[in-house]
Amino acid sequence: MTLPTQDLASPLYDLHLANVRYVSLVPNAEGYQVQHGHIYIKHGKIAAISATPLADDAAQSRDCQNKLVTPGLIDCHTHLIYAGNRANEFEMRLNGIPYQTIAQQGGGILSTVKATRQASQEQLTEIALPRLDGLLTSGVTSVEIKSGYGLTLNDEIKMLRAAKSLESYRNVRISTTLLAAHAVPPEFTYAPDQYIDLVCNEIIPSVAEEKLANSVDVFCESIGFNLAQTERVFQAAHQHGLAIKGHTEQLSNLGGSALTARYNGLSADHIEYLDEQGVKAMASSGTVATLLPGAFYFLRETQTPPIELLRKHQVPMAIATDLNPGTSPFADLTMMMNMGCTLFGLTPEETLRGVTANAAQALGVSDSRGQIALGYDADLALWDIEHPAELSYLQGVKRLYARLIQGEISYV
Ligand code: NIG
Ligand code: FE
Repeated sequence: MTLPTQDLASPLYDLHLANVRYVSLVPNAEGYQVQHGHIYIKHGKIAAISATPLADDAAQSRDCQNKLVTPGLIDCHTHLIYAGNRANEFEMRLNGIPYQTIAQQGGGILSTVKATRQASQEQLTEIALPRLDGLLTSGVTSVEIKSGYGLTLNDEIKMLRAAKSLESYRNVRISTTLLAAHAVPPEFTYAPDQYIDLVCNEIIPSVAEEKLANSVDVFCESIGFNLAQTERVFQAAHQHGLAIKGHTEQLSNLGGSALTARYNGLSADHIEYLDEQGVKAMASSGTVATLLPGAFYFLRETQTPPIELLRKHQVPMAIATDLNPGTSPFADLTMMMNMGCTLFGLTPEETLRGVTANAAQALGVSDSRGQIALGYDADLALWDIEHPAELSYLQGVKRLYARLIQGEISYV
C-alpha cells in the first residue's frame, strides 16, 4: 500500500530558524549562556532545537544570520488602557505637592477615571495603540493589562473589552486583570465598604461569567484599600476561579504582600516597603515579586525594594513597565530593564529573567511561555545585538529585528 502523496510531501516542521544565537532562559546553568543553533517550529510551538541543521524538511527556512533570539518579552503589569493624561499633575508634583495629596484632593487615579468613563470602548482602543506599539518595539509579545479606571460594572467591562480587542489590531497576546479595587470611586467616597460589596457581589461575578479577565488585583494602600477590604476581594476572586495579584507595599508596609501570598497570588507588585516576613511568605507560596522601577523613578521614591532579601529567599523577580498616566508613563520594557539595573542593582541576567521566565510565572503561563524550550510556544524576539546584557544597556536605538508569536512573524 502506498501512502497518500500529501503525507509524503508534507514537511515535518512549519518553520526553521537557521543560524540563530539564542538564550534559552530555562532554569539551569545554561539559561543565560548564548548558544548557537537551529530552532524548528510546528503548530506554533518549539518542536526541535539543534546545534546542527536537521535532515527533516521545514515548509519555510529563514537564515537568521546569527541574530540573537530571546523568548518574546512579557510585560506582566500595565495599565495601558486609559483616556486623558496627567502631565499637569507631574508639574504639580515638581512644584512640591506629593502624589498622595493630589490623590486625596480628587486628582490622581480619579482624574483618569473621569476621562476614561467619558471615552467609548473604541476610543480607548484607538488611543492605546501607540502605547502598545511602544511596547512591541521593545520586543514585547505578551502584555498584561489591568482595568481600574472605570470603577463601575460597565466601565470596568468596557476597559477589559478594549484591552482584549487590541489582539485584533496587532500580533500580540493580551492577558487581562480586573482592578476594580484600584480607588474608591467618587460615588462611594464615604462608603468604601459598600463599593467593595459592589466589586465582590456584582463586578467580579459578571467579569468571571463573561471570561473577561484572568486575574483580580487590588491596590492595598492607605490611598487604596485596607487589608480587610483586600481580603474580601481576594475571597470573591477565588470563589469565581480567578487568579490573584496585588499592588502591595508601594508607599507603606500594610502586609498586603503576605496576604497575597496567603491566597496563593501569582504576584505581589511594587513592594518597595516589603519586610523579611513578607518576603518569606512570598517564598513559601511561589508568589512572584514584580518590580516596577518606572514608578519608583517617576515618583522620585527613595525606598528601594528588598532585592537582597528576595535573592536570599529565592523569590522570583519580574520587571514590568506599570505603564500608566500617573506614576509610570513609559511604554518601553527594555528601558525598565535598564532602570532595574541602575536603580535597584539587579544584574542584566536578572532583568532578562524578569521580563521572560519570571514574568511568565507572574501571569500563570510559565509552562508555555518565557523560555526557549521544547513544547513551549514559539513566542520569540530576534535582536540585532551581540550579547543579552545589551538589552539592559543601550536605550533609544531600535535593536529589535522581528517578533514571533506562536510562530507567526511580524517586523514591529
Ligand atoms: O501601579 N498604584 C496604583 N496604581 C498605579 C498608579 C495609577 C495612577 O496613578 O493612575 C501604579 O502605580
Ligand atoms: Fe500598577
